[in-house]
Amino acid sequence: MYEMKEEYYTGIKEIDDEHKTLFEIAEEAYELRNNEFIADKYDNVRHLLHRLKDYTLMHFDHEEAYMERINYKRMFTQKVQHDEFREKLEELDLENIDENLDDTIDEILVFLTDWLIEHILENDKLIAE
Ligand SMILES: [Fe+2]
Ligand SMILES: [Fe+2]
Repeated sequence: MYEMKEEYYTGIKEIDDEHKTLFEIAEEAYELRNNEFIADKYDNVRHLLHRLKDYTLMHFDHEEAYMERINYKRMFTQKVQHDEFREKLEELDLENIDENLDDTIDEILVFLTDWLIEHILENDKLIAE
């Protein structure tokens, strides 16, 4: 469902590696959510969603440090977008996920990955130009 596609690559290895990990965590959460045979499934999914959130926040820090290092001219636009999403991530309630809330998990995953994909395609890919 969620994977790093050819068109997401920026050509900057340290950034691409982290984007790849983000999709891997999202996929892991998605597969877990669809697995009916795991006990404590929702604790595990919740744990993965926390990881996805934390990893995204860490990735933004790394990406901003990289942009500073290369004196990237569109750094400000990137930072504004990261900050907006940082706020949204802080507002995400990951604690109220229980067995009735498969749809909530899907919504969160779609929300996170849609944003990331759009941001990668429209912003991150420009960093390597
Ligand atoms: Fe970015
Ligand atoms: Fe990024």
